[in-house]
Formats: sequence, structure tokens, C-alpha cells
Amino acid sequence: MLKIQYLSHSAFILRDGIYSVIIDPFLTGNPTAPMKAESVKADYIVLSHGHGDHFGDTPQIAKNNDATVIAVNELALYCQSRGCKSHPMHIGGRYNFPFGSVKFTIAHHGSSNNDGRYMGEPAGAIINIGGKNVYHCGDTGLFSDMKLIGEMDKIDVMMVPIGGNFTMDIHDAVKAVELVNPDLVLPMHYNTFPVITTDPDQFVREVAAIGKKALHLEYGEIIEIL
Ligand code: NI
Ligand code: MN
Repeated sequence: MLKIQYLSHSAFILRDGIYSVIIDPFLTGNPTAPMKAESVKADYIVLSHGHGDHFGDTPQIAKNNDATVIAVNELALYCQSRGCKSHPMHIGGRYNFPFGSVKFTIAHHGSSNNDGRYMGEPAGAIINIGGKNVYHCGDTGLFSDMKLIGEMDKIDVMMVPIGGNFTMDIHDAVKAVELVNPDLVLPMHYNTFPVITTDPDQFVREVAAIGKKALHLEYGEIIEIL
């Protein structure tokens, strides 16, 4: 069993009925966030990279829940310096956790904290939870190794940025879907700020046109993956 809740931007909560894993928990200062950081219940926090719109409320959520941050080494060590428990990993590595596993993938982007300090390489993450593989692309441009990612792990749900400017736009994100070949696609990283304004329904239509399924989730909406 897997339930996915979209918290807007690139933030999602994955729940298997026992464990909760939150990805890129940017809530405070996010005008589209449907909940506050203090009401988040999470056992693990997976971070794609160190930018403020992904790191977000990580220290508060980690401390409130005694949650473990899972991130690439440099970012994980930074989280430790902010008082969080963390599990350092790196790109290409997979590790088994009580809920399943996490494997980090490449992402073509940057990664620094709000002070400009280097936070290691940006990443995507393949999270196995509730018997499903969820591929959260992080912030990235399009790259052809996405085909390899989809070949090495059958992807049930892909979370792909579509907002352009900092990441792929719709045109490139549709190609990313074609390369990864997931069962279901959830668009992310759009309409949070004016510079990443786009139409998620157009993305859904363009994905349908290549024979794949995408869903435009409302902020706070929960879906169950069967
Ligand atoms: Ni970023
Ligand atoms: Mn971002």
C-alpha cells in the first residue's frame, strides 16, 4: 500500500501505513503549501539537494519527529551540523531502510544552501516504499541516462519538474517521461513562483498523447497507488 500526498512545489509525503517519508519539505515561505511544518508527521526526510525551496523546513521537521534525513554526504553532514539525525549516501548508492530503500541518481542542477555554501551534488531519488518504486527527479534538466534509470528499476510513479527556468519545462519533461517509462507521472516544481508558471493540464495532455498517464494533483491531495 502506498499513499502519496502532494504538498506543492517538489514536496510529497509517502505513506505505507507504518512509515511516513517526506521529500523536499519546503512549506514555510511557500505560498502554495497546504500545511504548516509543525503539523508534519514524518519518520524520514529525503532531500534532493540543498536549495532553500527543497531543504525548506528540514531542521524543524527532523527535530519535531526525531526523523532521519537521507541525503548525499555533503548535505547530510550539513543537516547534522543543524542538529538533525542523518544518513549520508551518494549518487548510484542504494541502502535499505525499514520502509524499503533509497537510491540516489544524477540530476543536472546546482546545490548550495542559502549562504551559498556547497551542499554536494544535486540528486534524484528512487524510493522503494509500500512495494512501489517512486522516482523523484529532483531539480534537473533533461538527460538521456534517464532511459538507463528506467531500465534498472521499474518505475511505478515518477515525479518530474515541469516549470522551466531552473529545470525542465513541459516539452523536455514529456521526453523524460518517454525515457523513464513509468506507470504514472506527477508533475512538480511549477506555479510556486511567477518565474516557473506553466499549465500542468497541458502537461497531462501531452503525456497522454505519448500513451502515458499523468495526474495533476491539487495542493494537499492524497492518492493511493494500487
Ligand atoms: Ni534547486
Ligand atoms: Mn528548486
